[in-house]
Amino acid sequence: MKSLRNRLVLLLIVAIVTVVALATFAASRVLQPPLPEATVEPVARQLHFLANLIESDRQVAIALGVKLQDTPAEGVEITPMSRFLSRALEKTGTARTVVVSQAPGTPMVVASVQLGADEWVVAEISDPRPPPGRWWALGGWIFLIVLGSAAISIFAASKIIKPLQLLEDAIDRIGSDGVLAAIPETGSGEVRATAQALNKLSARLKSAMESRMRLVAAAGHDLRTPMTRMRLRAEFVPDDEEREKWFADLEELDAIADSAIRLVREEVGGDTLEAVHLDPLVHEIVDELLQLGYKVTPPSHVSLPVAVGPFALKRALRNLIINAATHGRGARIELAREGELAVVRIRDEGPGIPEELLEHVFEPFFRVDVARRKTMPGAGLGLAIAKEIIERFGGTITIANSKEPKGLIQTISLPLARDENSR
Ligand SMILES: Nc1ncnc2c1ncn2[C@@H]1O[C@H](COP(=O)(O)OP(=O)(O)OP(=O)(O)O)[C@@H](O)[C@H]1O
Ligand SMILES: [Mg+2]
Repeated sequence: MKSLRNRLVLLLIVAIVTVVALATFAASRVLQPPLPEATVEPVARQLHFLANLIESDRQVAIALGVKLQDTPAEGVEITPMSRFLSRALEKTGTARTVVVSQAPGTPMVVASVQLGADEWVVAEISDPRPPPGRWWALGGWIFLIVLGSAAISIFAASKIIKPLQLLEDAIDRIGSDGVLAAIPETGSGEVRATAQALNKLSARLKSAMESRMRLVAAAGHDLRTPMTRMRLRAEFVPDDEEREKWFADLEELDAIADSAIRLVREEVGGDTLEAVHLDPLVHEIVDELLQLGYKVTPPSHVSLPVAVGPFALKRALRNLIINAATHGRGARIELAREGELAVVRIRDEGPGIPEELLEHVFEPFFRVDVARRKTMPGAGLGLAIAKEIIERFGGTITIANSKEPKGLIQTISLPLARDENSR
């Protein structure tokens, strides 16, 4: 019931039913039948008149067609009506015994008024009772209103929220590059206007991102020339120690420019998906890093087929494992199959990342402690690149601190591929 559509449907149904109920109540008040006294007392007077006519001039009465019988009219007695009419007779003249009955199978109601021991005058009277089955009719009327208003409400609510639905669908289809997929500009005026606005927004966003990317790549690229000139000049610094410092700084600048260009490449281009097994891929990275002297504990073997770009994924995992091995003093890797997901967990026992900074870790150029730059070289782009790659392959990455033992846990989840025979 939380969705806007359901709320609108409910609101419309309640509004329609309330209006119809109030209108029905008002109509029933206005169209009230006359009071029973107003209909029954004239009947009682006519019956008195008939009885009096017979009692005063029997021959004329019979000639005029007044019906006389030895017994009351046949049929089932309607006791409440007999009682009601008897009271009306008493009120409008003398008290008389009266039986109101209805012959089975006929709609006629007959009043029999006793004149003597074996004499009854019989006359047809109108039936003042409400029609039978009126509660069923009322139930049917309410049911039809609720049914009709539900159908109208569902239709109206779907129409009203169509632009919002479009917005929701568009947000669902935002790619890992943050760009909205094109929305067809069809339908009613409001829907078309929403689609056009979203498409315009998406185009602007895309061009803004592309120009930002071009700027980063150009800056990274253009830095190379002055850096080469500086390196040449540094060769001529006479003091050995000073010269080494210049070279170290230049190397760091080089790494930053390089990573910036690589980030742009990751965001702009993507390699094609291949069915691969995560297990051998992770072991390849571990072997490579062990040879380079990093402290890494490999995972046990678990079969985890995934559909990814293997080179890009290797780059992402390498960044994360190197982070654990350098910032976290040693990486411990685990592989697991969790439901429909292939999970790689990289644990370390380093200082972790302060909780208040955790939300910024994936931002480009983020570094926890800028003062550590000298001891831990890096551009602050490794995590941004890794996240970009992993999300491109439909995966997620989360980073959390662990208390016991203290350190960082990096968790990468990728959707498992169906093909168990992949590489
Ligand atoms: N396992 C970890 N333990 C503690 N801090 C970490 C860990 N991983 C990352 N960090 C912190 O997050 C920052 C960003 O990491 P990121 O990989 O993006 O950049 P980097 O390692 O500094 O440089 P590079 O671009 O070369 O990877 C690091 O500078 C470090 O301060
Ligand atoms: Mg790093």
